[in-house]
Amino acid sequence: MDKMLSVKLKGGFVSSVYSSTTLSSVEKKIESYGKNAMYVFDENTKDIVSLDKDRCVVLPSGESAKNYKSIAKIIDKALSLSLARDSIFVAIGGGVVCDMTAFASSIYMRGARLSLVPTTLLSIVDASLGGKTGIDYCGYKNLIGSFYPAEEILICTESLKSLSEKEYICGLGEVVKHAFLSPSWKLYDFLCKNSNMILNRDLATLLEMIKLSLEVKKHYIEIDPEEKKGIRSFLNLGHTFGHALESITNYNISHGEGVAWGVAKALEAGEIVSITSDEYKSKAFALLSLYPFDTSLKVPSDMIEDFLKAISKDKKKSNGSVKFVLMKGQGEPVLMPLEEQIVKSIVL
Ligand code: GLY
Repeated sequence: MDKMLSVKLKGGFVSSVYSSTTLSSVEKKIESYGKNAMYVFDENTKDIVSLDKDRCVVLPSGESAKNYKSIAKIIDKALSLSLARDSIFVAIGGGVVCDMTAFASSIYMRGARLSLVPTTLLSIVDASLGGKTGIDYCGYKNLIGSFYPAEEILICTESLKSLSEKEYICGLGEVVKHAFLSPSWKLYDFLCKNSNMILNRDLATLLEMIKLSLEVKKHYIEIDPEEKKGIRSFLNLGHTFGHALESITNYNISHGEGVAWGVAKALEAGEIVSITSDEYKSKAFALLSLYPFDTSLKVPSDMIEDFLKAISKDKKKSNGSVKFVLMKGQGEPVLMPLEEQIVKSIVL
């Protein structure tokens, strides 16, 4: 596999990202861990590579499996294999599988080794990098978790070919978000120039897009690895609006679709409060319009209270007010509260 980039996190810990175009090279790499490893899949990914079945755990698919039961299942398997602290937990799947395996490895004997093989675009460009782990609890997403970066992230573009269109577009939502947060225009220009190749999933183009996208995330998480300086929180651009939309649509709107919509709403809000220039907003919308995101979607008036309630539940709540990420310009996010009237005027 080829080294794509590495990221230096808290205490000098380095996460290395490798890429390949074939699943067989990923299989070869993770198989080489032999008796020192266990592998975690979900129902969707269990057959994409062929490994020693005794060392594999298969979790149910989907967000509803992101709970203690799944963590116990991973840990029980590690125990039954008599894995020691220097053993390696390997996750093969989307964000849910990666987050849970990472959390389980962070608490197993106070920390086992961790390798992630993210198989969806969303988990490749976001969840796998930066060490956020966790499970949902009492209706709150990722309420219980830890920061525990993987020592390696193995990306394989072949797995992107089999994603459903909805799942693929979902990942693109986070990529587009990174394009605005980037201090340079490189990713923005790349997404503008290559939209056809990207939408047709040309693998070489996707590899370059993933690298540019991860470089943006690297920029933010290296400065603020554990979201303590208010810098990493900028990666939540579009999330406050987006999570609320996901929630009121019972998750029929995917995370990335919600994020892309939320980015559009943050740009509109930024213009209203004179943070975002009309020129920057237009440039940003020009990129959004090249991809199948519905940025004009409105919240039905009979759902506005639920929408506002979902916003107030957002984890970026601090000192009693929800903070939104707005954009001053390219790569210049700011965090600020918005009046309810302004939120309503944008989403209704
Ligand atoms: N998904 C945003 C972050 O990793 O901080």
